[in-house]
Amino acid sequence: MRQVDLLLIHAEQLVTCTGNGQPKRGDQMRDVGIIPDGALAVQDGHIVAVGTTDEITAHYASEQAISARDKAVIPGLVDCHTHTVYAGNRLDEFEMRIQGKTYMDIMAAGGGIMSTVRATRAAQLQMLYEESRARLDTMLRLGTTTAEIKTGYGLHQDAELKMLAVILKLATDHPMTLVPTFLGAHAVPPEYPDAVTYAEAVIHEILPAITEAQTQSGDSSPFFIDVFCEKGVFDLTTSRRVLVAGQQSGMGIKAHVDEFVNLGGVTMAVALGATSVDHLDVTPETELDLLAASDTVGVALPAVNFNLGATHFANARYLIDAGGVLALATDINPGSAPTPSMPMVMAIASRYQKLLPAEALNASTLNAAYAIGLGDRVGSLEVGKQADCLILDTPDYRSLIYEFGVNRVESVIIKGEQII
Ligand code: NIG
Ligand code: FE
Repeated sequence: MRQVDLLLIHAEQLVTCTGNGQPKRGDQMRDVGIIPDGALAVQDGHIVAVGTTDEITAHYASEQAISARDKAVIPGLVDCHTHTVYAGNRLDEFEMRIQGKTYMDIMAAGGGIMSTVRATRAAQLQMLYEESRARLDTMLRLGTTTAEIKTGYGLHQDAELKMLAVILKLATDHPMTLVPTFLGAHAVPPEYPDAVTYAEAVIHEILPAITEAQTQSGDSSPFFIDVFCEKGVFDLTTSRRVLVAGQQSGMGIKAHVDEFVNLGGVTMAVALGATSVDHLDVTPETELDLLAASDTVGVALPAVNFNLGATHFANARYLIDAGGVLALATDINPGSAPTPSMPMVMAIASRYQKLLPAEALNASTLNAAYAIGLGDRVGSLEVGKQADCLILDTPDYRSLIYEFGVNRVESVIIKGEQII
């Protein structure tokens, strides 16, 4: 009998999302790997055994055993696209949109992202840290145990460095596992005459300072570069230039593509070997086919469409049926998606993008982990991975997606520690 730090036993459903070293694509997304009366053994923050309660208790014992009788246990949720660090809010723009203005109208008039840039530039680091930390705490209560966080509300060197410092401090202090992304090319600040000139500053001034700060911090997470490739923001050529510069500095590639206008961003990013392409709201089927045939993860952000009152959503169903790797994320930000809730995102995706609960869950766990370079560490309940899991207050995991406006997460365990 081996003694371990923690046993979690008698889960009505132990939902493993096992991937066998790969993200799930196509039909594999319908399988969440349920073990009835399941159990986990945990040592030093990692999973050392997974099986039925009989199998696990025949070989492992612990002074700390948690019973999940009548409850489903699922992997901790992975929010692979967030703008969690920001100051202020955009309540006035919310009202303007209700009265008929569009998101891009507001941005073109100097509001939108630039309004949050002004608030974030003005915020003291400690204030920004505290507001962001409170947001992470809310995400945690809703089941998110790993998140990516982007810069992109600084848009000059000092403010981008301040945002990165906040993200890295949160990565150290907060129980969630966090992955930073540099999004210096999020909007063109008014100090610059045009996108091309600003992109040159991003590449030659801000990016070197950011990579230096990241190296100095000793943070060992994957590190990404991202760009808002969109009509009226960064065109295809400029977006490509920014992404290549990041790649040459050793960063993985992500890109905001096809949120409003299709510019060919998927084709460009896949050719560069991007880790993920995100939004995909107006991506044509030809480019979804190309994405499906690649190892790049397609990230759908349906809370944005919902929040903007749209009736059109990314064709996630097509991507899965074409054999692609789909992930879901909140995109939490004060403009296009003020929500911390991955369960809400899964609820929207199942209704409007026709994802089965199993597909939505795989897209929010294992595949989302691959979208941020952590597919070998989190996202499924498999031997060797971090012991990050949720105990739901319901015996069937599908209730998490079927019900909405309610929090079914009863307990959150990260690296074998019961946080909630
Ligand atoms: O992913 N589209 C660009 N960036 C964000 C929105 C950020 C904002 O509105 O503040 C997005 O939707
Ligand atoms: Fe975004």
